[in-house]
Amino acid sequence: MQFKNKFYEEFSDYIFKHTGIHYAEANYYQLDARINKLMKFLETSDENDVLKAIQGGAVKDQRVHQMIVDLATNNETYFFRDPGVFNAIKSELVPQWLEKIDQGGRVSVWSCASSSGQEIYSIMMNIEEKRPGAIEKGFEFKATDISNSILEKAKAGVYSQLEAQRGLPILMLTKYFKQTDSSGWQIRENFPSKVNFSNFNLLTGSYPTGQFDLICCRNVLIYQKKENKAMVLEKLYQSLKPGGILLLGNTENTFGLNKDFVGQTIGGVAMFQKPLDENKGAA
Ligand SMILES: C[S@@+](CC[C@H](N)C(=O)[O-])C[C@H]1O[C@@H](n2cnc3c(N)ncnc32)[C@H](O)[C@@H]1O
Repeated sequence: MQFKNKFYEEFSDYIFKHTGIHYAEANYYQLDARINKLMKFLETSDENDVLKAIQGGAVKDQRVHQMIVDLATNNETYFFRDPGVFNAIKSELVPQWLEKIDQGGRVSVWSCASSSGQEIYSIMMNIEEKRPGAIEKGFEFKATDISNSILEKAKAGVYSQLEAQRGLPILMLTKYFKQTDSSGWQIRENFPSKVNFSNFNLLTGSYPTGQFDLICCRNVLIYQKKENKAMVLEKLYQSLKPGGILLLGNTENTFGLNKDFVGQTIGGVAMFQKPLDENKGAA
């Protein structure tokens, strides 16, 4: 169904206000399927009912709000997405983390647009590959996303055959997953139970300070306008420990957005570091 321009405007404004995701007029057609799903959910074929639901810019019914967030977001992800990145984590970062833990320290990792969990679980598998049992001792894992339904999936840690096959070597699949009755794959129970999952909007959330050794903020800022990207990068910078690392998606960087991060090539991969001594950061 085609909608009136005014309707697209109000709907896309709502999405922008609450997620920062910008649907330009040229892309309004991408909203059609999303709006149709929402109408089905609201059991209506009248766009005025949708407008009423988002009246005043704030949906009173949280289920409707979350439905819009779910519809607006792209949750594409897979295990070991960009293998070079995960090889670098395994060969360069994990040994440093284990050393730190051996010396009595703690290591915290945050996947801040976690989608269905493949990112945080891939990091955890990398740690386990280096030292079996290590995720139980000294590590803290946090995974957040703006979408509640995708977080529920992440928490469950159950993946279809297709999802399990995407990026996950067969040896890792058989080692860390067991088959479910419905021919899906369930990650080892201690993985989800070690992760602190919560809803977090990168634009409005209250960021922890100085807490993380690694933050993965991959393939989410691409949907944001420049000023929002800069604001999120500044907050992520504050959330890292001195010496902590920010990982962005392969096509993303901090250039022109943040001067504090120091670009580093670690294990052949571009990473962004908060200097150990902030006074010696990038000029
Ligand atoms: C394309 S997925 C990326 C998943 C994973 N980081 C990766 O690279 O494979 C983007 C995720 O960002 C989430 N997201 C979008 N806008 C967000 C926001 N403002 N705050 C937090 N998460 C957001 C979406 O719900 C989606 O799950």
